[in-house]
Amino acid sequence: MSARASTTVRLKVRRGSGSDPSAARYDTFEVPHEDGMVVLNAIHYIQANIDPSLNARWNCKAGRCGSCSAEINGRPKLMCKTPVDSIEGEIVVEPMKAFPLVSDLVTDVTENWKVAAMMPPFTPRKPNSKEWRFWQQDVDRSREFRRCIECFLCQDVCHVVREHEAEYVGPRWVVKAASLDMHPMDSLNRADFMKNAAGLGYCNITKCCQEICPEHIVITDDAIIPEKERVVDRHYDPILWLYRLVTKDEEKLEAGVMKGLKMVFWGALLAPVVIVPMYYLIQALIR
Ligand code: SF4
Ligand code: SF4
Ligand code: FES
Repeated sequence: MSARASTTVRLKVRRGSGSDPSAARYDTFEVPHEDGMVVLNAIHYIQANIDPSLNARWNCKAGRCGSCSAEINGRPKLMCKTPVDSIEGEIVVEPMKAFPLVSDLVTDVTENWKVAAMMPPFTPRKPNSKEWRFWQQDVDRSREFRRCIECFLCQDVCHVVREHEAEYVGPRWVVKAASLDMHPMDSLNRADFMKNAAGLGYCNITKCCQEICPEHIVITDDAIIPEKERVVDRHYDPILWLYRLVTKDEEKLEAGVMKGLKMVFWGALLAPVVIVPMYYLIQALIR
């Protein structure tokens, strides 16, 4: 963070409405600098003292509501959590580009609520007589994903969402699926949904979403990769496919049984490749 030498902050703000893209422009404003000032303070100063027609969405001013998402000098950020002193020189503020523009810094994120409605909901397992324990590591796994404030900055930075919005639901919704799938009381398998309707295969794990999440959710490593592994297990693992075919009940699939089956499978496959040549090698050495 650099100390600002000037007593003012210079902001270049993108203006215009979604209904008239040809009228888009950038307005430049000089705002008095204050200690501890964040970009949202500067936007509020402009609205109160220079141009009340400037539109921006915000609510909590505390990094909790996820409303003040914007692109600041080209990076998706929360305006209320970006100190002006963290930026050298002019501050360029633009709306998120992954969503349709409403006006100035306000975008229409409705598409996200449509995906939310599609998501197979939390489905607790049926009560049974078995003693059931909730381990701390299960709590921690689910808790990480529940920190999401639905700012949609990860959706904004994702090049796949920008180019294939209709085919891929985006990282926020993979985080949501992971929070449900990894909940120890949930009994639903969302692998089919993630493969087909959610288009998870489009994500090529660039980790851009993970880098910008203001809640520091490890989106790619902790949510996307495990969700991709679930899809692979369900659709492309020959042992699992065989087991499901025989049992017709994948819920009976226990980790131990799976490990054993896999070892037998790979053992049978590798035996002719490794053991037979070794046998002939040893024979040759003995002679
Ligand atoms: S995962 Fe992070 S970046 Fe994405 S919506 Fe949630 S808080 Fe925002
Ligand atoms: S890791 Fe996947 S979801 Fe995240 S930005 Fe890259 S392509 Fe998008
Ligand atoms: S105003 Fe709520 S997160 Fe910025």
